[in-house]
Amino acid sequence: MHDIDATLRALKAQFAGLADKRDILKAPEFKKMYAGIKDVPAADKPAYGQAVNAVREELQAMIDGFEAAQAAAAIKPLDPTAPFDINSSRPSLLGPENGSKHPLSAERQVVADIFNRMGFECIDSRQLDDDYHMFQALNFPEGHPARDDYDTFTTREGLIAPAHTSTMQNRVLKAGEPPIRTVIIGRVFRNEDLDAKHEHTLNQIEGVYVDKNINVGHLLATLQAFLEAYYQTNLKFRIQPSYFPFVEPGFEFAISCPFCHEAGCVTCKYEGWIELLGCGMIHPNVLREGGIDPTQYTGFAWGIGLDRLVMMKYGIEDIRNFQAGKLQFLRQFK
Ligand code: PHE
Repeated sequence: MHDIDATLRALKAQFAGLADKRDILKAPEFKKMYAGIKDVPAADKPAYGQAVNAVREELQAMIDGFEAAQAAAAIKPLDPTAPFDINSSRPSLLGPENGSKHPLSAERQVVADIFNRMGFECIDSRQLDDDYHMFQALNFPEGHPARDDYDTFTTREGLIAPAHTSTMQNRVLKAGEPPIRTVIIGRVFRNEDLDAKHEHTLNQIEGVYVDKNINVGHLLATLQAFLEAYYQTNLKFRIQPSYFPFVEPGFEFAISCPFCHEAGCVTCKYEGWIELLGCGMIHPNVLREGGIDPTQYTGFAWGIGLDRLVMMKYGIEDIRNFQAGKLQFLRQFK
Protein backbone atom coordinates (compact mmCIF):
# COMPACT_ATOMS: atom_id res chain seq x y z
CA MET A 1 0.00 0.00 0.00
CA HIS A 2 1.10 3.55 -0.69
CA ASP A 3 3.13 5.04 2.25
CA ILE A 4 1.44 8.40 2.81
CA ASP A 5 3.78 9.54 5.59
CA ALA A 6 6.87 8.95 3.45
CA THR A 7 5.22 10.87 0.59
CA LEU A 8 4.48 13.81 2.88
CA ARG A 9 8.09 13.86 4.10
CA ALA A 10 9.40 13.81 0.51
CA LEU A 11 7.03 16.60 -0.55
CA LYS A 12 8.02 18.77 2.43
CA ALA A 13 11.67 18.34 1.51
CA GLN A 14 10.95 19.43 -2.08
CA PHE A 15 8.86 22.42 -1.02
CA ALA A 16 11.75 24.65 0.01
CA GLY A 17 13.51 24.24 -3.35
CA LEU A 18 10.55 25.16 -5.58
CA ALA A 19 10.48 28.58 -7.20
CA ASP A 20 6.67 28.56 -7.38
CA LYS A 21 5.50 26.88 -4.18
CA ARG A 22 2.13 25.96 -5.76
CA ASP A 23 3.98 23.50 -8.02
CA ILE A 24 4.18 21.16 -5.03
CA LEU A 25 0.58 20.10 -5.77
CA LYS A 26 1.73 18.93 -9.22
CA ALA A 27 4.65 16.84 -7.90
CA PRO A 28 4.68 13.21 -9.17
CA GLU A 29 4.64 11.87 -5.57
CA PHE A 30 1.45 13.82 -4.94
CA LYS A 31 -0.21 12.37 -8.05
CA LYS A 32 0.92 8.82 -7.21
CA MET A 33 -0.63 9.16 -3.77
CA TYR A 34 -4.00 9.97 -5.36
CA ALA A 35 -3.65 7.20 -7.96
CA GLY A 36 -2.86 4.71 -5.14
CA ILE A 37 -6.50 4.72 -4.01
CA LYS A 38 -7.40 2.07 -6.58
CA ASP A 39 -5.08 -0.50 -4.86
CA VAL A 40 -6.55 0.08 -1.40
CA PRO A 41 -9.02 -2.56 -0.09
CA ALA A 42 -12.58 -1.20 -0.08
CA ALA A 43 -12.80 -1.22 3.74
CA ASP A 44 -9.71 1.00 4.04
CA LYS A 45 -10.63 3.45 1.29
CA PRO A 46 -12.33 6.04 3.56
CA ALA A 47 -9.32 6.14 5.94
CA TYR A 48 -6.93 6.34 2.98
CA GLY A 49 -8.98 9.13 1.43
CA GLN A 50 -8.93 11.10 4.69
CA ALA A 51 -5.15 10.72 5.01
CA VAL A 52 -4.65 11.91 1.43
CA ASN A 53 -6.86 14.94 2.04
CA ALA A 54 -4.94 15.71 5.22
CA VAL A 55 -1.71 15.79 3.19
CA ARG A 56 -3.32 18.08 0.66
CA GLU A 57 -4.49 20.43 3.41
CA GLU A 58 -1.08 20.46 5.02
CA LEU A 59 0.60 21.36 1.74
CA GLN A 60 -1.98 24.07 1.05
CA ALA A 61 -1.30 25.53 4.52
CA MET A 62 2.43 25.57 3.78
CA ILE A 63 1.80 27.40 0.49
CA ASP A 64 -0.53 29.93 2.15
CA GLY A 65 1.90 30.52 5.01
CA PHE A 66 4.75 31.11 2.62
CA GLU A 67 2.76 33.55 0.49
CA ALA A 68 1.50 35.47 3.51
CA ALA A 69 5.05 35.80 4.89
CA GLN A 70 6.25 37.10 1.52
CA ALA A 71 3.44 39.63 1.30
CA ALA A 72 4.12 40.84 4.86
CA ALA A 73 7.85 41.19 4.15
CA ALA A 74 7.13 43.19 1.00
CA ILE A 75 4.93 45.71 2.82
CA LYS A 76 6.83 45.98 6.09
CA PRO A 77 10.50 45.06 6.01
CA LEU A 78 11.63 44.03 9.48
CA ASP A 79 13.60 46.68 11.28
CA PRO A 80 16.25 44.79 13.24
CA THR A 81 16.82 47.84 15.44
CA ALA A 82 13.17 48.08 16.51
CA PRO A 83 12.28 46.94 20.03
CA PHE A 84 11.11 43.38 20.44
CA ASP A 85 7.34 43.01 20.59
CA ILE A 86 6.59 40.42 23.28
CA ASN A 87 3.05 39.78 22.10
CA SER A 88 3.86 38.83 18.53
CA SER A 89 7.39 37.60 19.40
CA ARG A 90 8.85 39.59 16.56
CA PRO A 91 10.37 43.06 16.27
CA SER A 92 7.70 45.74 16.14
CA LEU A 93 8.01 48.91 14.10
CA LEU A 94 8.55 52.10 16.00
CA GLY A 95 5.46 54.24 16.18
CA PRO A 96 4.82 57.36 18.23
CA GLU A 97 2.79 55.25 20.65
CA ASN A 98 5.56 52.81 21.53
CA GLY A 99 8.76 54.73 20.91
CA SER A 100 10.38 58.08 21.47
CA LYS A 101 13.49 59.97 20.50
CA HIS A 102 16.59 59.07 22.47
CA PRO A 103 17.42 61.98 24.79
CA LEU A 104 20.79 62.44 23.09
CA SER A 105 19.15 62.67 19.65
CA ALA A 106 16.62 65.17 20.91
CA GLU A 107 19.26 67.32 22.65
CA ARG A 108 21.56 67.11 19.67
CA GLN A 109 18.83 68.86 17.71
CA VAL A 110 18.42 71.51 20.42
CA VAL A 111 22.17 72.17 20.28
CA ALA A 112 22.21 72.30 16.47
CA ASP A 113 19.28 74.76 16.47
CA ILE A 114 21.13 77.12 18.81
CA PHE A 115 24.28 77.03 16.70
CA ASN A 116 22.26 77.50 13.50
CA ARG A 117 20.76 80.64 14.97
CA MET A 118 24.29 81.80 15.83
CA GLY A 119 25.34 81.42 12.19
CA PHE A 120 27.06 78.03 12.27
CA GLU A 121 26.34 75.18 9.92
CA CYS A 122 26.13 71.80 11.66
CA ILE A 123 27.50 68.59 10.20
CA ASP A 124 28.00 64.98 11.29
CA SER A 125 31.34 63.50 12.25
CA ARG A 126 32.67 60.18 11.01
CA GLN A 127 32.61 57.07 13.15
CA LEU A 128 35.64 55.53 11.48
CA ASP A 129 38.68 57.54 10.51
CA ASP A 130 42.39 57.32 9.78
CA ASP A 131 45.69 58.23 11.40
CA TYR A 132 46.06 61.35 9.28
CA HIS A 133 42.81 62.96 10.49
CA MET A 134 43.06 61.63 14.05
CA PHE A 135 46.66 62.72 14.63
CA GLN A 136 48.86 64.06 11.84
CA ALA A 137 46.52 66.81 10.63
CA LEU A 138 46.05 67.84 14.28
CA ASN A 139 49.74 68.45 14.91
CA PHE A 140 50.45 65.17 16.72
CA PRO A 141 53.67 63.96 15.08
CA GLU A 142 54.21 60.21 14.85
CA GLY A 143 55.35 58.80 18.19
CA HIS A 144 54.30 61.93 20.12
CA PRO A 145 53.35 61.06 23.71
CA ALA A 146 50.17 63.21 23.50
CA ARG A 147 48.73 60.49 21.25
CA ASP A 148 48.39 58.36 24.39
CA ASP A 149 45.74 60.73 25.78
CA TYR A 150 43.42 59.58 23.00
CA ASP A 151 43.54 55.85 23.55
CA THR A 152 40.85 54.38 21.32
CA PHE A 153 40.05 51.37 19.12
CA THR A 154 41.58 50.43 15.79
CA THR A 155 40.59 47.93 13.13
CA ARG A 156 42.96 45.32 11.71
CA GLU A 157 43.24 47.52 8.61
CA GLY A 158 44.57 50.39 10.75
CA LEU A 159 41.38 52.47 10.75
CA ILE A 160 40.53 54.34 13.95
CA ALA A 161 37.30 54.75 15.90
CA PRO A 162 37.88 58.47 16.55
CA ALA A 163 38.43 59.51 20.16
CA HIS A 164 37.24 63.06 19.46
CA THR A 165 35.40 65.06 16.82
CA SER A 166 38.55 67.13 16.19
CA THR A 167 39.28 64.55 13.45
CA MET A 168 36.85 66.60 11.35
CA GLN A 169 38.78 69.88 11.67
CA ASN A 170 41.05 69.27 8.69
CA ARG A 171 38.09 68.42 6.43
CA VAL A 172 36.19 71.52 7.53
CA LEU A 173 39.22 73.74 6.91
CA LYS A 174 39.78 72.26 3.46
CA ALA A 175 36.11 72.46 2.48
CA GLY A 176 35.92 76.19 1.86
CA GLU A 177 37.35 79.67 2.18
CA PRO A 178 37.07 81.60 5.44
CA PRO A 179 34.88 82.75 7.05
CA ILE A 180 34.38 79.19 8.32
CA ARG A 181 31.72 78.63 10.98
CA THR A 182 31.05 74.95 11.45
CA VAL A 183 29.82 72.79 14.30
CA ILE A 184 30.42 69.06 14.11
CA ILE A 185 28.32 66.76 16.27
CA GLY A 186 29.08 63.08 16.49
CA ARG A 187 29.91 59.91 18.30
CA VAL A 188 33.40 59.28 19.63
CA PHE A 189 35.03 56.27 21.24
CA ARG A 190 37.51 55.84 24.07
CA ASN A 191 39.26 52.97 25.76
CA GLU A 192 37.99 53.76 29.26
CA ASP A 193 37.49 51.95 32.52
CA LEU A 194 33.70 52.25 32.69
CA ASP A 195 31.90 53.82 35.62
CA ALA A 196 29.06 56.27 36.21
CA LYS A 197 31.09 59.09 34.64
CA HIS A 198 33.04 57.22 31.94
CA GLU A 199 31.72 55.50 28.83
CA HIS A 200 33.55 53.97 25.87
CA THR A 201 31.09 55.67 23.51
CA LEU A 202 30.10 59.29 23.87
CA ASN A 203 29.15 62.31 21.80
CA GLN A 204 30.92 65.58 21.22
CA ILE A 205 30.08 68.99 19.84
CA GLU A 206 33.08 70.42 18.04
CA GLY A 207 33.26 74.00 16.84
CA VAL A 208 35.56 75.49 14.22
CA TYR A 209 35.60 79.22 13.48
CA VAL A 210 38.15 80.86 11.15
CA ASP A 211 38.27 84.40 9.81
CA LYS A 212 40.44 87.50 9.80
CA ASN A 213 41.29 89.02 13.20
CA ILE A 214 39.67 86.34 15.33
CA ASN A 215 40.88 86.23 18.93
CA VAL A 216 40.29 84.52 22.27
CA GLY A 217 37.53 87.01 23.11
CA HIS A 218 35.44 85.69 20.20
CA LEU A 219 35.97 82.14 21.42
CA LEU A 220 34.87 82.86 24.97
CA ALA A 221 31.84 84.94 23.94
CA THR A 222 30.70 82.23 21.53
CA LEU A 223 30.86 79.53 24.19
CA GLN A 224 29.15 81.69 26.78
CA ALA A 225 26.36 82.60 24.36
CA PHE A 226 25.80 78.95 23.46
CA LEU A 227 25.80 77.70 27.05
CA GLU A 228 23.49 80.47 28.24
CA ALA A 229 21.07 79.61 25.44
CA TYR A 230 21.27 75.90 26.24
CA TYR A 231 20.73 76.24 29.99
CA GLN A 232 18.43 79.26 29.61
CA THR A 233 20.19 81.24 32.30
CA ASN A 234 23.01 83.72 32.78
CA LEU A 235 26.40 82.13 33.35
CA LYS A 236 29.85 83.23 34.38
CA PHE A 237 32.86 81.47 32.96
CA ARG A 238 36.51 81.08 33.77
CA ILE A 239 39.39 79.56 31.87
CA GLN A 240 42.70 78.02 32.76
CA PRO A 241 45.58 77.02 30.49
CA SER A 242 45.52 73.49 29.12
CA TYR A 243 47.42 71.49 26.52
CA PHE A 244 46.03 70.14 23.27
CA PRO A 245 48.55 69.84 20.39
CA PHE A 246 46.05 71.33 17.92
CA VAL A 247 45.46 74.64 19.70
CA GLU A 248 47.73 77.41 20.97
CA PRO A 249 46.90 78.78 23.46
CA GLY A 250 44.66 76.01 24.81
CA PHE A 251 42.16 76.25 27.69
CA GLU A 252 39.87 74.37 29.99
CA PHE A 253 36.60 76.27 30.13
CA ALA A 254 34.47 76.22 33.28
CA ILE A 255 31.03 77.76 33.87
CA SER A 256 29.31 78.84 37.05
CA CYS A 257 26.80 76.16 37.95
CA PRO A 258 23.60 76.83 35.94
CA PHE A 259 21.48 75.36 38.77
CA CYS A 260 22.81 76.95 41.97
CA HIS A 261 24.75 79.94 40.57
CA GLU A 262 27.83 79.23 42.72
CA ALA A 263 25.89 78.51 45.93
CA GLY A 264 26.80 74.80 45.71
CA CYS A 265 24.54 71.86 44.80
CA VAL A 266 24.70 68.17 43.80
CA THR A 267 25.26 68.94 40.13
CA CYS A 268 28.42 70.96 40.71
CA LYS A 269 29.44 68.78 43.69
CA TYR A 270 29.19 71.86 45.92
CA GLU A 271 31.98 73.60 44.03
CA GLY A 272 29.81 76.22 42.36
CA TRP A 273 31.73 75.74 39.11
CA ILE A 274 31.72 73.06 36.43
CA GLU A 275 34.62 72.31 34.14
CA LEU A 276 33.01 71.64 30.84
CA LEU A 277 35.23 71.60 27.82
CA GLY A 278 38.55 72.04 26.05
CA CYS A 279 39.12 74.87 23.59
CA GLY A 280 41.70 77.20 22.15
CA MET A 281 43.03 79.11 19.18
CA ILE A 282 43.67 76.76 16.24
CA HIS A 283 47.39 75.98 15.96
CA PRO A 284 49.07 77.52 12.88
CA ASN A 285 50.25 74.04 11.81
CA VAL A 286 46.63 72.84 11.79
CA LEU A 287 45.50 75.84 9.73
CA ARG A 288 48.36 75.32 7.27
CA GLU A 289 47.61 71.61 6.95
CA GLY A 290 44.01 72.60 6.19
CA GLY A 291 45.14 74.87 3.37
CA ILE A 292 44.65 78.14 5.27
CA ASP A 293 47.37 80.78 5.56
CA PRO A 294 47.96 81.40 9.28
CA THR A 295 49.50 84.81 8.55
CA GLN A 296 46.15 85.93 7.07
CA TYR A 297 43.65 84.10 9.23
CA THR A 298 43.17 82.97 12.81
CA GLY A 299 40.48 80.85 14.35
CA PHE A 300 39.28 78.96 17.37
CA ALA A 301 37.99 75.48 18.12
CA TRP A 302 36.31 73.72 21.01
CA GLY A 303 35.06 70.27 21.96
CA ILE A 304 32.16 69.77 24.39
CA GLY A 305 30.81 66.44 25.62
CA LEU A 306 27.13 66.31 24.63
CA ASP A 307 26.40 63.49 27.10
CA ARG A 308 27.75 65.60 29.93
CA LEU A 309 25.62 68.63 28.96
CA VAL A 310 22.50 66.48 28.84
CA MET A 311 23.30 64.70 32.12
CA MET A 312 23.55 68.06 33.86
CA LYS A 313 20.39 69.40 32.24
CA TYR A 314 18.26 66.45 33.39
CA GLY A 315 20.16 65.38 36.52
CA ILE A 316 21.13 62.02 35.01
CA GLU A 317 23.56 60.37 37.39
CA ASP A 318 25.01 57.54 35.33
CA ILE A 319 26.34 58.07 31.81
CA ARG A 320 25.87 54.36 31.06
CA ASN A 321 22.09 54.92 30.95
CA PHE A 322 22.48 56.41 27.48
CA GLN A 323 23.72 53.18 25.91
CA ALA A 324 21.88 50.68 28.10
CA GLY A 325 18.63 50.64 26.08
CA LYS A 326 16.55 50.48 29.27
CA LEU A 327 12.99 51.48 28.47
CA GLN A 328 12.41 52.62 32.03
CA PHE A 329 15.09 55.27 31.51
CA LEU A 330 14.19 56.19 27.95
CA ARG A 331 10.44 56.57 28.56
CA GLN A 332 11.09 59.46 30.94
CA PHE A 333 12.01 61.58 27.90
CA LYS A 334 8.81 60.95 25.93
N1 PHE B 1 39.29 67.32 21.12
C1 PHE B 1 39.54 67.68 22.48
C2 PHE B 1 39.17 66.49 23.38
O1 PHE B 1 38.29 65.75 23.05
C3 PHE B 1 38.77 68.92 22.87
C4 PHE B 1 39.20 70.13 22.11
C5 PHE B 1 38.62 70.45 20.89
C6 PHE B 1 40.18 70.95 22.62
C7 PHE B 1 39.04 71.58 20.18
C8 PHE B 1 40.58 72.07 21.93
C9 PHE B 1 39.99 72.39 20.72
O2 PHE B 1 39.75 66.28 24.42
